[in-house]
Amino acid sequence: MSIGIFYGSTTGNTETAAEAINDELGGLATHLANVDDTDPQDLLEYDVLIFGISTWNIGELQADWEYFLPKMEGLDLTGKKIALFGLGDAFGYAENFLDALGLLWDEVKKCGAPELIGVWPTEGYTFDESVGKFDEDHFLGLGLDEDNEPDLHDERIAAWVAKVKGELGLS
Ligand SMILES: Cc1cc2nc3c(=O)[nH]c(=O)nc-3n(C[C@H](O)[C@H](O)[C@H](O)COP(=O)(O)O)c2cc1C
Repeated sequence: MSIGIFYGSTTGNTETAAEAINDELGGLATHLANVDDTDPQDLLEYDVLIFGISTWNIGELQADWEYFLPKMEGLDLTGKKIALFGLGDAFGYAENFLDALGLLWDEVKKCGAPELIGVWPTEGYTFDESVGKFDEDHFLGLGLDEDNEPDLHDERIAAWVAKVKGELGLS
């Protein structure tokens, strides 16, 4: 099973998280790249795609993804398993926490019929609103808050990667 990690990052926080997730996967992922350095066709090489995105400008996509997503139009990701992680600021942007997770998934799910894995409980996060939610009690993927809760990254990443590996039958 091949795993690729792709992210967009403006100030480097999502990039750092992507590297930590890669480390936690312990060599299971064979590719780690910014979407800015990615040809959309590259995504087809992997069975599992891990996408990382931060939210910017009050509920908007991060710029690298904003540029990349139109290039994914027409791509068929049917059969791929997709796991998402997002960076946001729950204190400064409590009404729009991790919104880009939702914006990203809205576009990715149009690419054939990919399967979302790695949804993550909202329990333990303090925020008001998010379009990054899967349902009442879950985000569409892992949420990380570098601005307010960087001390929780290690434990959140370890638990999320364990969940993803479990869903993939790798644990
Ligand atoms: C101008 C500005 C707008 C932001 N808007 C949001 C937002 O709407 N929702 C959110 O959760 N985080 C928001 N953030 C926080 C970023 O997502 C957060 O700092 C993130 O760690 C940046 O990651 P990156 O360096 O990988 O881009 C905003 C930050 C800035 C500076």
